[in-house]
Amino acid sequence: MNRQIVNGTYVSYQDQGQGLPLMLLHGYPLDSRLWQHQLAGLSDEFRVITPDLRGFGQSTGGGAFSMESQADDVHALAEALNLGKFFLAGLSMGGYITLAYCRKYPSTLRGVGLIDTRAEADTPDGRQNRDKAIELVRLHGSKAIADQMLPKLLAPETINHRPQLASIVRQMCEQCSPQTIATALAAMRDRADQIEFLPSLAEATLIIVGDQDAITPPVIADAMHKAIPQSQLVVIRGAGHLAPLEQPQQVNRALRAFLKAG
Ligand code: MLT
Repeated sequence: MNRQIVNGTYVSYQDQGQGLPLMLLHGYPLDSRLWQHQLAGLSDEFRVITPDLRGFGQSTGGGAFSMESQADDVHALAEALNLGKFFLAGLSMGGYITLAYCRKYPSTLRGVGLIDTRAEADTPDGRQNRDKAIELVRLHGSKAIADQMLPKLLAPETINHRPQLASIVRQMCEQCSPQTIATALAAMRDRADQIEFLPSLAEATLIIVGDQDAITPPVIADAMHKAIPQSQLVVIRGAGHLAPLEQPQQVNRALRAFLKAG
């Protein structure tokens, strides 16, 4: 793991390969291990950078953050690493940060990936559920969140037949600190709605979704595809919300083809 001071915080990241840079942002309550197969599978041809976002994984930073401030960290990291114009892709919360980044720093982008994510803000019910989850993590810790999240993160078949994969995901959730979980929940609850921004997203955009994604289902991905002018949609077979871990070969194939075309 490499480390870089970014806006006053130590950000840990992997940086592997040479060529067009691709930065990948993980979701909640996860860390850069989400991208282990993309790092291994795509760094033969591309420079793949997978940070632990502020507060997550091995990165420090206990204070409040927003999707916008995480996007500022991504920008500062990209500058520190001299990436020039790069591809940015994010999964779920990483996708919210990617959209915030697209609004703030469009001239630094070569292309965009939106993976198992959505552009809408939380509904009123969704916001209430965030508050309940904040209460849950304060009272019962990260394990309670892992218990709640796991069945939603993975396709039923993954949970039933791939215990090792499920245990990696559980480990990521349980190792995420209660403070970061609460901060992330508040930040996602308060995030801006990006629906009206989508038609002006000018970069080539690859949208990827697991066919069994229970959190951000294919119908949501299809709506983003219709709203973003230069977009393509790839549906991953046999994957839930964590397509890059559940079906890495399909995801890597889609990313490789997209990067080569860009
Ligand atoms: C994620 O995977 O990042 C989260 O499930 C996103 C969310 O809760 O909105």
